[in-house]
Amino acid sequence: MPKNKFYITTPIYYVNDVPHIGHAYTTIAADAVARYKRLQGYEVFFLTGTDEHGQKVQQAAKNLNVSPQEHVDKLHQRFKELWVRFNVSNTDFIRTTEERHKELVRNILQELHAKDEIYQDSYEGWYCTPCERFWTEKDLTEGNCPECRRKVEKIKEYNYFFRMSKHQQWLVDKIKNDPHFILPTSRRNEVLGFLENPLGDLCISRPKSRLPWGIPLPFDEEYVTYVWFDALINYISIHGSLEDIKSSGFWPADHNLVGKDILTTHAVYWSTMLKAIGLEPPKNIFAHGWWTVNGQKMSKSLHNVVEPNNLVDLFGVDVIRYFLLREVPFGMDGDFSHKALIGRLNSDLANNLGNLLNRTVNMMKKFFDGVIPTPGAEGPEDAPLTEKAGEVIADVDKLYNELAFNKILQKIWELVDTTNQYIDKTGPWHLVKTEEGKERLKTVMYNSAESLRVLGVLLYPFMPQSMESLMNQLGVETSIAEQGMNSIKSWGGLKPGSQTQKAKQLFPRIEDKQADKILAEVSAPKEDKKEDGSQITIEDFMKVELRTGKVLEAEKVKKSKKLIQLKVDIGTETRQVLAGIAESYEPEDMVGRTVIIVANLKPAKLMGIESQGMVLAANNDGKILLAGFDEEPGQGIQVR
Ligand code: MSP
Repeated sequence: MPKNKFYITTPIYYVNDVPHIGHAYTTIAADAVARYKRLQGYEVFFLTGTDEHGQKVQQAAKNLNVSPQEHVDKLHQRFKELWVRFNVSNTDFIRTTEERHKELVRNILQELHAKDEIYQDSYEGWYCTPCERFWTEKDLTEGNCPECRRKVEKIKEYNYFFRMSKHQQWLVDKIKNDPHFILPTSRRNEVLGFLENPLGDLCISRPKSRLPWGIPLPFDEEYVTYVWFDALINYISIHGSLEDIKSSGFWPADHNLVGKDILTTHAVYWSTMLKAIGLEPPKNIFAHGWWTVNGQKMSKSLHNVVEPNNLVDLFGVDVIRYFLLREVPFGMDGDFSHKALIGRLNSDLANNLGNLLNRTVNMMKKFFDGVIPTPGAEGPEDAPLTEKAGEVIADVDKLYNELAFNKILQKIWELVDTTNQYIDKTGPWHLVKTEEGKERLKTVMYNSAESLRVLGVLLYPFMPQSMESLMNQLGVETSIAEQGMNSIKSWGGLKPGSQTQKAKQLFPRIEDKQADKILAEVSAPKEDKKEDGSQITIEDFMKVELRTGKVLEAEKVKKSKKLIQLKVDIGTETRQVLAGIAESYEPEDMVGRTVIIVANLKPAKLMGIESQGMVLAANNDGKILLAGFDEEPGQGIQVR
C-alpha cells in the first residue's frame, strides 16, 4: 500500500553565516517532526539547504579573491557537516546555485512574465545593502533600515515587479479562513495587521551591473533575480518541474518552518507567489521564536555566538537537541544559558530518565540474570502505568500538530515519573524476598522495561542516538525505525526471554565542580581563552607603527580604476603612498585631509609605482570610508 506523504522544510540558511544554535534550532525541530512522522509510517520528505546568491556572497568572495561559486562550494559544507553531526535526517539538501533550482526559477519567471504577473517599471526607493531590501520612505526607522538599523541609500532604477498587490484580498481571506495556515496565532494576527495596509508590488529584479551574482531573468538578461524570490522557490524546485511538483504528492508542504524574522517574506511573498504560479500555499507556516544569549542578540561583535560544535563537544548531541526543544515553547523567544542546560541535563536526563533505565537494567540483571521475564502476577499498580502510557501516546500525537515540542516532552516525562513511582511503590527489592513476591516481581520488571521501550520510541525523534542505546540495553534488537509507533499502540511489545545488556549511563551527570569549570570557561573574557592563533598580544600590535599624516598632493593613477597616488606629510618626512580609494574619493577631496598611515610597512610596488605605507580605511560593501578623527590632530602623531 502506498504510504501517505509528509513534507517539512527549514529555511535555507545564508551560506555566508557561521552556523549557530539559531540555525540548529529550526533544523532540529524539523528533524524531530520528520522522525516522528516516519515512525507513524509516512513517507517523509525533509528539506534543508543553503541560500547562495546575493550581494553579501559576492562581496565576501571578492574580498577573498575567489569566484562566488568557489566560495559557496566551500562554505555550504559547514552546514552540511553540522547536520551530520546533529543526526539530522534530511532527505535532500538544496543549494540555490544548483542547476535543478535555477531552472525552475527561470521557468517560473518566464511563465509569470507571460501571464503579466510581472511587469517593468521605474523604481525609486531606499536600499539597504546588507539586507538587500528596498524600503519606502515610511518604512524607515529614523532614516535607517527598519530591520538592521543601518544606513540606507536612495536608488532609482528600472526594475521588474511581481503583481503581489493583486493577491492581497485572497491572502487575507486565506489567513482568516484557515486558522492552521499561520501559527502561532499571535504571529498570524501580526500578519493580518500588516495586511491591513495596502500591499505594494514586489521588486523582483536587480540590475546585473550592480549585482551580477544571481539568476539572470529569462526575459531580460541585464537583470538577475531578487534573492528572496529566488530563495523561496527552493521549497518546490527540489521536486522538479511544475508538473512534477503537482504529481509528487509533496506539495503543498505540511510545514514550512521559519524563524519569526522571516515570517513576512514567507506568509506574504511566498504565498502570493504560489498563488500566481497556480500552486497551493503550504498547509502551515510556523514561525518560531529567537534565541538570545544572556538577554542579548547573538552577534560576532559581542563574541556571544553559541557555536553548536563546541556545545556538542561539551555535552553530546542529544543533550543539546533535548535542551533546545524542551526549554522554550516553540513560538516564543528564549534565552540560552549553559547553566540552564546543565540543570536540564542533570535533572531531567541524568536523574529522571537515566536513572530509571539504569536501575531497571541493573535489577533485571540482579533478579533475572538479565533476561526479560514473562509477566507473572498482576497488581493494582499496573493499570495506572499502562493507562498513563496510552494517555501520553495519544496526547503527544495531538501536540505534534501544534509543534508544541516543550509540551510533548513534558508529557513524555509524565510517563518517566509514573514509571519511577511504579518501581518505588511496588518495591522490587522487597518482592524478591518471598515466592509470592517473585511472581509479582516478574510483572513489575517486565512492565518497567516495557515502559522504557515505549519511552524509547517516543523520545527517539528528539534523541535518536541515545534511544537506540536505550533499546540496546533493554535487549531489543529491532531498530526503532522498524518498531515504529504501531509497536507501542498496545502494551506488551517487549519480548520475554530477550537478553538485556550491561547498564550504561545514557546521560552522565555534570558534577558541581565540573559545572563550575564549564561555566567559568564559557563566561571568561575572550583574551583568557587558549591561544588559537586568532589573537595577538599587545606587543604584536605595538609593532605596527600607525601615524597621522596630512595629504599634500593627490592624483589618480593612470590605467587604474582604484588607485590614487598620495604625497603625505607624516611629520618627519613626506611619503608617497598608493591608496585603493578612487571609486569612493576624488583626488581633490583628499588634499589637506588627515589620514592614518601604517608608517613602518615595507615599501611595495603597485602598477610600477612605489608605495611607502598604507592608508587605513573601511570597506563597507564596496564603499570605501577613510579612518579619521573627530578633531583635526597634527601630523606625525602616533595612533594607538
Ligand atoms: N536565507 C534566508 C532564508 C531564506 S528561506 C527561503 C535567511 N537565512 S538565515 O541564515 O538568516 O537563517 C534564518 C533562519 O535561521 C531563521 O529564520 C531561523 O530559522 C534561524 N535563526 C537564525 N538566528 C536565530 C536565532 N538567534 N534564534 C533562532 N533561530 C534563528 O534568513
